Amino acid sequence: MSQKNQTHVTFFIIKGISEVPGLQVLVFFLVLLLYLITLSGNLTILLLVCLDKKLHNPMYFFLGNLSILDVFSLSITLHKILFTFISGDKTVSFLGCMAQMYIFSSLTCNELLMLTAMSYDRYVAICNPLHYHMVMNRRVCALLAIICWVLGFIEVVPHMWAISKFTCYKSNEINHYFCDILPIMKLSCSDTTILKLVIFIEGLLLVSFTPFLFTFISYIYIIATILQITSNIGRRKAFYTCSSHLTVVIILYLSLVCQYLRPTSTDTLDSNKVFSLFNTAAVPVLNPFIYSLKNKDVKLSFRRQLKSLKSLKFASL
Ligand SMILES: *[C@@H]1O[C@H](CO)[C@@H](O)[C@H](O)[C@H]1NC(C)=O
Repeated sequence: MSQKNQTHVTFFIIKGISEVPGLQVLVFFLVLLLYLITLSGNLTILLLVCLDKKLHNPMYFFLGNLSILDVFSLSITLHKILFTFISGDKTVSFLGCMAQMYIFSSLTCNELLMLTAMSYDRYVAICNPLHYHMVMNRRVCALLAIICWVLGFIEVVPHMWAISKFTCYKSNEINHYFCDILPIMKLSCSDTTILKLVIFIEGLLLVSFTPFLFTFISYIYIIATILQITSNIGRRKAFYTCSSHLTVVIILYLSLVCQYLRPTSTDTLDSNKVFSLFNTAAVPVLNPFIYSLKNKDVKLSFRRQLKSLKSLKFASL
């Protein structure tokens, strides 16, 4: 049941990706598949990073953190689609919706910050290789990781505050598959000027522009240093160590731009929601594969772990 033309909302209805019954089955299995791929990919990376001593260095610590983030962030966005299909319950409480929005936007922020920290790590590795282990020591890495986690959860408080000021909603039907800022903003009949201003300032100063600038500058230095390397092999090797990170950064920024900077009037089409779904899932799904396909270390580590698993099996027989 929808509560039309009302000002006070106690729960929202998540319309989901498609309301066509036949398509719902397709969407369910598609989402389940995406989710399982993400889960297995990221958990594999996480296991390798934790188990293999050869991967105990800053780049892989951050990668491990990124995998945790990816799993959480995709679970937050996709769980409603999966549960709705099973239980048929499309409602979510007002607080649940706000919590989902808060956690999702914090994790996205977090991911941007973590990738920024990783670009600093790559900068030190390429531009200051002799002091790499001194500069990126355990204390510095832990500090950077903690800053990313904490800052991510603080940075998005202003827009949550602005949304909590909304007193009037046109309807409680969210035409999306989870509680995100833009769909909620469209439902509101309160004045959204302050929210738009807060989002603009947040985006400019904290969430996207500063990390982007920092990453961009790091890569200018990295590329300049790589170009100065005279040997072909050395140059390729140096580029190799940052290509995975650069690929993930490009995918993340592209997906954010597609997600939040496109015209909102076209949002109602099912196909756009499918597009948005792939956008949200792009980094979590692809991240582990980019790192394992492009990285000899990860591939070798995977083989080593498989081997030790096999020998464990034989020993127990
Ligand atoms: C996350 O990063 C911290 C700091 O570098 C590290 O100590 C920790 O092991 C990382 N976690 C994972 C699961 O990789």
